[in-house]
Amino acid sequence: MNIKKICCIGAGYVGGPTMSVIANKCPDISVNVVDINNERIEAWNSKDLEKLPIYEPGLKEIIKKCRGRNLHFSTEVEKNIRSADMIFISVNTPTKRKGIGAGMASDLKWVEASARQVAKHAINHTIVVEKSTLPVRTAEVIKTILSSSNLNSKSCKEVSFDVLSNPEFLAEGTAIKDLEEPDRVLIGGENENAINALSKIYLNWVPESKILHTNIWSSELAKLTANAFLAQRISSINSIAALCEATGADVREVSRAIGSDNRIGSKFLNSGPGFGGSCFKKDILNLVYLSRFFKLDEVADFWEGVVNFNEWHQHRISKLIVKKLFGTVTGKKIYILGFAFKANTNDTRESSAINICRDLLEEGAILFIHDPKVNSMQISKDLGLSSNNSLIAQKENINTYEGQWCFIDDLNQGFNNADAVVILTEWEVYNSIDWLMAAKKMRNPGWVFDSRSVIKEKNIIGSKLNLWRIGDGVDE
Ligand code: NAD
Ligand code: UGA
Repeated sequence: MNIKKICCIGAGYVGGPTMSVIANKCPDISVNVVDINNERIEAWNSKDLEKLPIYEPGLKEIIKKCRGRNLHFSTEVEKNIRSADMIFISVNTPTKRKGIGAGMASDLKWVEASARQVAKHAINHTIVVEKSTLPVRTAEVIKTILSSSNLNSKSCKEVSFDVLSNPEFLAEGTAIKDLEEPDRVLIGGENENAINALSKIYLNWVPESKILHTNIWSSELAKLTANAFLAQRISSINSIAALCEATGADVREVSRAIGSDNRIGSKFLNSGPGFGGSCFKKDILNLVYLSRFFKLDEVADFWEGVVNFNEWHQHRISKLIVKKLFGTVTGKKIYILGFAFKANTNDTRESSAINICRDLLEEGAILFIHDPKVNSMQISKDLGLSSNNSLIAQKENINTYEGQWCFIDDLNQGFNNADAVVILTEWEVYNSIDWLMAAKKMRNPGWVFDSRSVIKEKNIIGSKLNLWRIGDGVDE
């Protein structure tokens, strides 16, 4: 089967980049990305490529080349479902907030709504591909919804469906590279023709040996497992960082030493402020829910520990900042560098910066927050507190603004009268901060808390600033 027209439901961090790469690599396929969020679609169609809804290195170049050619963004969901021979479901699947499984299970209402739309509007034979990360056996739900409609109500034509699972493994910040050179592409399904049709698309740029075929349940579970393993690795190294600080070891040296063992490998061993992002926590909680459902409580407890540890670690960092600043941050100015959950993305979902900043505000600190790609409005939403921009012009008596924050555009401006700087995201621009200059602007005794190991000691020695680095117990 030759796919000529694709529709992707959901124009988010996955739908947008994934479909852009498919459009780029397959100029003969018309790729239509649809979303119910009009504002998001307008941003995808924005003439000014700096205004795309997501920041991802390499993305705007592809959009420039393909948009309007064989890549289209629109809110015309029904029309694009009707004309597609393959439909990707790429909608959000956040953790449920209420009802059965609240706080653990994934909320599948957007997936169900998408499946219902497909059932209602598709004509002829359509391959439906799960791109969203879903609990095991969701394909069954999708199939049931789709099979409830084997006659299109408007056209009265017979319709039929195949459902495939094709989870996405891209990481934000490196999405384009991950899509162009994937470690593997996973396709789970039963019908060989449908599997071949999807494989054929990827074969335009992915070697056959990297396209793995599994049954649909293995594919769904493999996605959750991959994220759980990655997150567990971060919690593991962060636990060792705490031990390094207590014992006089250095976590960077420990990472290097263990990472040179081929069986362990060197990737994902950077200790930091805890893992963030929209998926690690959600996917592990999903695994926990699934395990409890199958009465595997020990399995559930094992994975739940990874999430619990991550939260403990985030609060550990805020507590130690308070401790080092003589036990109180009330009325003190703290300059936060980085709010995104990692570098090279404007995404703040589950960013460790949220918990750490909330803790510090709760303690009465005055936060000046800088991030090269996250805007002030997003930070207000995440902190549940509007910014007070009059703080920026305030020269004296800043201490009366306890528990408030403002956004700083100019990186160098934020150091003025700061008691401490806290690095929470590893943006490259923070590597080249002139610490001698910063120290002169800060209040004495100034502190720098580097949770991302971005500072080279030689660049700060001589500044008289006190430096705390994650997992650095050497001078304790
Ligand atoms: P997102 O929130 O950025 O985007 C989802 C989009 O779907 C939103 O724009 C929303 O408006 C749209 N949507 C919801 N219901 C719709 C409907 N009925 N019709 C049309 N549009 C609808 O989410 P995301 O980060 O792109 O994640 C999507 C899925 O991919 C999730 O399951 C996630 O776990 C998974 N995933 C995400 C990443 C990542 O890096 N963000 C990586 C791999 C997998
Ligand atoms: C992660 C996975 O890496 C992707 O394979 C997966 O597709 C995606 O989740 C998903 O399903 O959403 P992402 O969350 O975008 O990707 O980013 P990662 O690079 O995995 O980083 C996650 C968090 O771990 C970040 O907060 C990052 O700073 C932190 N991290 C990562 C560390 O603290 N140390 C490391 O060594 C690596």
